[in-house]
Amino acid sequence: MKILSTILSIILLLQLQVNAQRQVISFNTNWKFSLQADSTAIAPTYNDKNWRIVELQHDWSIELPFSANAPATNQGGALPGGIGWYRKTFSLPTVSKNNSVFIQFDGVYKNSEVWINGHYLGKRPNGYISFQYNITSFLQSKNNIIVVKVDNSLQPNSRWYSGSGIYRSVQLLIQPPIAFDRYGVFISSTIQQKNKQAKATINIQSTLHYTYTKNNSIQVQHIVYDALGKKVAATPQLSVELKDTSTQISQQVLIEKAKLWSIQQPYLYTVVSIISKKGKQLDKVVNQMGVRSFHFDAAKGFFLNNQPLKILGVCLHHDAGALGAVENISAIERQLLLLKKMGCNAIRTAHNPPSVAFLDACDRMGFLVMDEAFDMWKKKKNKYDYNIDFLDWYKADLEEQIKRDRNHPSVFMWSIGNEIREQFDSTGTIFTKKMVQIVKQLDNTRPATAALTENIPSKNFMTKAQALDVLGFNYKHTDYDSLPNRFPNMPLLATETASALATRGVYILPADSLYIWPPNSKTTTTGNADFTCSAYDNTFAYWGATHEESWLAVKNKPFMAGLFVWSGFDFLGEPVPYPYPARSSYYGIIDLAGIPKDVYYMYQSEWTNKTVLHILPHWNWKQNDTVDVWAYYNNADSVELFLNNQSYGKKAKTDQKVHVSWKIPYQAGTLTAKSYKAGKLLAIKHVKTAQEPAKFHLEIDKRIIHLRKKELSYIAINVVDKDGNLVPFAQNKIEIVTDNLLQIIGIDNGNPTSTDSFKSSVGKAFNGKMLVILKPSGSKGIAKIKIQAEGLQPITTNIFIQ
Ligand code: GAL
Repeated sequence: MKILSTILSIILLLQLQVNAQRQVISFNTNWKFSLQADSTAIAPTYNDKNWRIVELQHDWSIELPFSANAPATNQGGALPGGIGWYRKTFSLPTVSKNNSVFIQFDGVYKNSEVWINGHYLGKRPNGYISFQYNITSFLQSKNNIIVVKVDNSLQPNSRWYSGSGIYRSVQLLIQPPIAFDRYGVFISSTIQQKNKQAKATINIQSTLHYTYTKNNSIQVQHIVYDALGKKVAATPQLSVELKDTSTQISQQVLIEKAKLWSIQQPYLYTVVSIISKKGKQLDKVVNQMGVRSFHFDAAKGFFLNNQPLKILGVCLHHDAGALGAVENISAIERQLLLLKKMGCNAIRTAHNPPSVAFLDACDRMGFLVMDEAFDMWKKKKNKYDYNIDFLDWYKADLEEQIKRDRNHPSVFMWSIGNEIREQFDSTGTIFTKKMVQIVKQLDNTRPATAALTENIPSKNFMTKAQALDVLGFNYKHTDYDSLPNRFPNMPLLATETASALATRGVYILPADSLYIWPPNSKTTTTGNADFTCSAYDNTFAYWGATHEESWLAVKNKPFMAGLFVWSGFDFLGEPVPYPYPARSSYYGIIDLAGIPKDVYYMYQSEWTNKTVLHILPHWNWKQNDTVDVWAYYNNADSVELFLNNQSYGKKAKTDQKVHVSWKIPYQAGTLTAKSYKAGKLLAIKHVKTAQEPAKFHLEIDKRIIHLRKKELSYIAINVVDKDGNLVPFAQNKIEIVTDNLLQIIGIDNGNPTSTDSFKSSVGKAFNGKMLVILKPSGSKGIAKIKIQAEGLQPITTNIFIQ
């Protein structure tokens, strides 16, 4: 009996110790959702039994039908917004009575209002920012009810598809009475560098927060672990006397031989920060850190760890194609991996703070991030956009973003806005100064920038503030040469380039004319009758240029630190130049389904050392059509083109052209390109005339998916002929059948005009291709998927769920 009671008291003691600690509980499951409710749903007694159970992250707009009458218009993706209600009932784990409890939202689009047990917690208008509420004093031990109202009814607001709902994660935070504050550990480093190693001084600033202060002498220590989990350094224990309710302290730690974080080797350390009292741990916070240095030089561009690095970036919106705004780690990693393989080394988060998961992935995968705050300030772009909330909220939103993101090694610049209208009058000067001051107060280790349009100094009131460290200019590439004179000694960056338009797999002949759609601000009806744009790089909006021309304008100008192409991926909304049913953009280097367009290989051939040889178009034309054949290549002196073994000659890139091209009379058969280096064959590529659709060829990005990580599997389905050639016009109706282990959570084919639902098990190939996105239903096992279409040989495959 004595032994039993001793064991019980040990268990209790352990539990009390555990419970005194910080706990972060994922709060994404078992929410109830309704689009029909009203404010009676706030009451704890409200009966939500008929509401749908949803798992976060959740975007209700993507589940609804496209419509020509959607108030968001096709610029917003032609999907409905509306007002949605979420409810979640929960009981608290046992917590010590001095702990505080917070509910943390990573992003809710938009105008969220939150209640707990009938008490109003607050409103957050900005749909792209994270926020939290202290719910301690309203909690009961059981049956707590959180109610979230999300109001995305006033449209149009965003200039692109925003999604609606709790589309990022939610956590419950149980915080001990003496704790690190929210984002209370800020880590930066200064380095003395020798090759790939460096002597690094890690500066750690911590803010402590506590609810009582009597007799509180505590110790704070930070311990640094390397990527293998080995302890490499630690600060001394610093004794701190707690006085008011908050204290800030600074500590330093030296890493003698630090491994640097870089694009190629994104080496991450872990910093464990501990508050203790007489050896007993009171709070612990874990952060990742990268040791790197960078600087801009007005004449020579950008340097990472003292090595010159051209910023080869793309702009990305936050949507995940067929998944809508839903934040998902597989969707993020898939996008980044495709970009990495293209040679892209930087992302501009157009035009709002990204998710934390996105920044974590950039830290791990080696991308620089230009972390952008706003698309507008007080002067609106759309009637119901953030202009309404700007004056009341910009400070809090910007502060939240900087504090949240400043430990990420990937983040290298803060952008205070995109094409902000205030740049044209004196209010631009005032707000630029105010915002840069906020940025610098919270983080003086990174430059502040903005994506500007006005490049004449006397007309740009944001540059007049003399507060920005780096000037970003969108478009107007023919002015780049004048910029160093106009803005002497200022680092310069092309924050937006191209706005070129293409539909994947569509080739319109001839390819040697340019198409400017729209040609000017007054003409709206332009383009092809079927709402396509040719995938030869020859079509762009009047403010932009072809990808090739935009890249060449930056390539050999060292004073241009780099560029961010508009855009990395097609995104929902902004389908310039077309009206409905066009509902997603044509700007992407990669289509909405994540399938590269041809220009992907232009960037890959210019931005990587990996041998590239890519030819376009497909080889299914009418006899004697004159066809433009283009090739992108690298590492070679020239490319020779053959049709059915007849040579059409060798061609080489020039300073003004990074593709080579031929015009040849069509005959069915095999088109072959061969690249040569110093007379030797380097690479060879064939495109063959395809026969009738016969079967499928699958590209599966993940055969093994992990339940714990919420991973998804993406299967790209190619319709091929009997010999395995892609059938370039195939539009077969394809059905996906899975067993109970998997759910289909999205299908897409990259067609910007399709109004078919993304949430179906049946879709249509577009130019020979279709994508299906699969999610595990919740159990481990070997899942079976069958893909079938009338007249085609079906295919069965497996996904392993662990
Ligand atoms: C830019 C703008 C982007 C996008 C792009 C389309 O001016 O910053 O958000 O609208 O044009 O070409």
